[in-house]
Amino acid sequence: MNELIEKINKLKKEKNAVILAHCYQNEEIDQVADFVGDSLYLSQMAAKTDADIILFAGVYFMAQTAKILNPDKKVLLPRLESGCKMADMISLNQLREFKSKHPNIPTVCYINSTAEVKAECDMCCTSSNAVKVVKSMGADKILFLPDTYLGKWVESQLGCLEVITYPGFCPTHLQIRPEDIENARAKYPNAEVLAHPECHQSVTKLADYVGSTTGIMKYAIESDKKQFIIATEKGVVDRLTRDYPEKEFILIKENIVCSNMKWHTLTDIYNALDREEHEINVDKDLASKALNCINRMLEVSNG
Ligand code: 13P
Ligand code: SF4
Repeated sequence: MNELIEKINKLKKEKNAVILAHCYQNEEIDQVADFVGDSLYLSQMAAKTDADIILFAGVYFMAQTAKILNPDKKVLLPRLESGCKMADMISLNQLREFKSKHPNIPTVCYINSTAEVKAECDMCCTSSNAVKVVKSMGADKILFLPDTYLGKWVESQLGCLEVITYPGFCPTHLQIRPEDIENARAKYPNAEVLAHPECHQSVTKLADYVGSTTGIMKYAIESDKKQFIIATEKGVVDRLTRDYPEKEFILIKENIVCSNMKWHTLTDIYNALDREEHEINVDKDLASKALNCINRMLEVSNG
């Protein structure tokens, strides 16, 4: 294993490559990653990097976003099978149909969407800036896609605005049920419950804190409490447990795992980097339209 890590690190230097890894990845990947974080952080790092090659240990739409931000760089996704079931729930035709049913309303897409979809939306967002992005549009009605639960959570946070949502969802987060929270609270009465906004609203309603991957991690690190019930993907619990052994992190229930996020292994990363294979490309016109939507998000987020 150490030998493989050394070989990857050597290749990174030789090829001026950077490795970005999402917190839902297999934990072993952190050993070679330059940046580990949530979708917003990784897109900010992708926008800033001066590396020649970006290897994305994440799902397809993340690598595609990195390519759109860096049309002249080589972007590699070690395993092309690594898609996102939520992003696949809305095609360009379905987007057009959704918009035509609700004409003349600004459209916000979750970053978990394809380049084709982003190209026809006004702004994109991640779970960590969704409230800020939607608010920045200054409209009284917004179309939000593909995640209905994130959209409805944003609406609940902003109060005076109607968020019309497309019926997409994350199958991983939707496995978490309100009774799981109730059972966990009964078992660990002193623990705080932290949930991702991709969860059903009957779950987020019961949480002490709702936020993105980074939001959840930051909250747990900064809290005076010692025990936390985590209602999101297992990778978050694994990293918190590894990095903060003085605290206890309990996954809400077994197998809250995004199988798509777990495709990449260190061997896949080595092969992709060595052979420069599994490159992500996006048509230039499409990329420039999708870039507007991504850049507007980055401006709002950085500002
Ligand atoms: P964040 O990284 O924005 O929290 O999103 C979680 C997710 O589901 C990524 O696909
Ligand atoms: Fe997509 Fe859900 Fe997996 Fe995130 S956790 S990549 S939204 S399927």
